Amino acid sequence: MTERVSVIVGSLRRGSYARKIAQNVLPMFPPEFTAEIVEIRDLPLYNFDYDDPEVTDVATPPEYTRFRETIKSSAGVLFVTPENNRTIPACVKNAVDIGSKPNSDVAWKNIPVGIMSHSIGRMGGYSSQKNLRLALSYFDMPTLGQPEVFLSQSRTLVEPDGTITQESTVEFLQSYVDRFAELMTSELDERAGAQA
Ligand SMILES: Cc1cc2nc3c(=O)[nH]c(=O)nc-3n(C[C@H](O)[C@H](O)[C@H](O)COP(=O)(O)O)c2cc1C
Repeated sequence: MTERVSVIVGSLRRGSYARKIAQNVLPMFPPEFTAEIVEIRDLPLYNFDYDDPEVTDVATPPEYTRFRETIKSSAGVLFVTPENNRTIPACVKNAVDIGSKPNSDVAWKNIPVGIMSHSIGRMGGYSSQKNLRLALSYFDMPTLGQPEVFLSQSRTLVEPDGTITQESTVEFLQSYVDRFAELMTSELDERAGAQA
């Protein structure tokens, strides 16, 4: 059995570079992991009424339940995101908020997380990544400090056919995935040890 890695793409548009970068990264995971994009486009906008025990006439959307269960059953979550107006795209924040409730069962808790940010500009989505780290810091998620993946000038980085061919970038992304896989493995080992 392989362990699931949930990959969250922070852009909804068809031609998204974030999605293309994610698609290049999916096959880089070692065989004990299966990395898959978890779609966030159909998650209803977060509204605490869905989770508030005092609001009894509003049901939790099935999309929320599916998303939360997927995250909870993951060995790790990898965000691949652009930057919108110096912070994370709304669809990413929506997903973060949905995974953050209910307080008694936070989907993100203890799930190792990796982040890759990108931009068509030169700063590689720096603010987006820092803001995402800030939001996730609330959930006790094991996180790699280094390396940090800021991919700049995505228009030239990603070829028209969607591939990344620049050798140094491919090696860098592979080294990040390898370190992230090590982090997930050590967390899985720790969990298995705690259960034994
Ligand atoms: C609403 C909006 C806000 C943006 N803000 C930023 C920004 O703050 N920093 C940046 O580097 N690029 C910004 N961009 C440009 C994005 O880097 C560019 O559109 C990129 O292609 C989006 O990623 P995607 O290709 O994965 O959809 C913005 C784009 C949009 C549509």
